[in-house]
Amino acid sequence: MTHPFDTLWINARLVTCNNGYGIIDNAAIASKDQRIAWLGPMEQLPDQARALAPHIIDAKQRCITPGLIDCHTHLVFAGNRANEFARRLQGESYANIAASGGGIQSTVRATRELDETELLQQSLPRAKALMDSGARVLEIKSGYGLDLETECKMLRVAGRIGETLAIPVRRTFLGAHAVPPEYQGNADNYIRYICNELIPLVAREKLADSVDVFCEHIAFSLQQTREVFACAEQYQLAIKCHAEQLSNMGAAALAAEFGALSADHLEYIDEQGVTALASSGTVAVLLPGAYYFLRESKTPPVALLRKHQVPMAIASDCNPGTSPVTSLKLIMNMACVLFALTPEEAMLGVTLNAAKALGMEQSHGSLSVGKCADIVLWDVNHPDELSYTVG
Ligand code: NIG
Ligand code: FE
Repeated sequence: MTHPFDTLWINARLVTCNNGYGIIDNAAIASKDQRIAWLGPMEQLPDQARALAPHIIDAKQRCITPGLIDCHTHLVFAGNRANEFARRLQGESYANIAASGGGIQSTVRATRELDETELLQQSLPRAKALMDSGARVLEIKSGYGLDLETECKMLRVAGRIGETLAIPVRRTFLGAHAVPPEYQGNADNYIRYICNELIPLVAREKLADSVDVFCEHIAFSLQQTREVFACAEQYQLAIKCHAEQLSNMGAAALAAEFGALSADHLEYIDEQGVTALASSGTVAVLLPGAYYFLRESKTPPVALLRKHQVPMAIASDCNPGTSPVTSLKLIMNMACVLFALTPEEAMLGVTLNAAKALGMEQSHGSLSVGKCADIVLWDVNHPDELSYTVG
């Protein structure tokens, strides 16, 4: 007997993420060839369930959501920075530790030392843990190599993570994360190296989809950021930006000027920056894990983002220095408790808006016919429960 669908989930509470939660109660959803082929209330099913699909799963009124999307991670890295965590708790600042050769530089040293297989071995468990929390799409940045060999190694490892786990991985080249030791005191030359050698190579070898810059007084200036964005644009790579995390640099407005997919962090963004994001359709990616772990006190202006209808995504920022977090569910809880997002906004932040932040909203981020059928059946009856429980 031939069936129109491959798998049919019945008696589900569908959290479609179309127009808010977009709940459809007592519903069914069907997949065919890994795409969503049908969804709707049970009573509108076109036939008896057993005639529709060889595999039938009874959701028992529990929630089905789109697979979650972690749209900002640095999960490929070597070692850890627990010693710096201890130093910060003694009162040293993140900026101070970075200035004294720690911070990103210490992870760069460790990451340069490992070969590709070792780096994969250390990084893969973090990707798996994120998947255990519901993630079915990951973004992974380079930025702990800061030289041609190690940046490419990181991006290849990111690609292998996607192949190993059979999930889409979007790769972002973050060569402009910090000035490497070879270019200390000569950031402009490093930017030239990025634009003349690294980005052309990354584009040619198709090692990344996007380019990101850490625009901050402890990293790169607005002008240097502009040069990298202009180069990325020339090579038709999408643009993302670490913007206004520790101070207001005007980076969000610059990202908007370049039509960036997202501007990320944004604790210090002002209304001008917010309106710039609104007019370019750039997604605001909020990273409560870094805010929490750095014990910051300035929260991103969520009310302003709402007022100007800027789509808000949230992400783990999984990294060894500022957010050693591998649970998207924990991030949803933090976004609610620390940034006062509603559980519904948190849900959209790891689904539809996270898809937009990766330029994947045509195929991911909501339960819609034609989109990818990599969906999650949760042991909860209401989607608020996903943000409510801690981790
Ligand atoms: O997103 N802000 C810059 N980059 C990372 C931190 C990197 C690190 O400290 O290793 C972040 O917070
Ligand atoms: Fe980051």
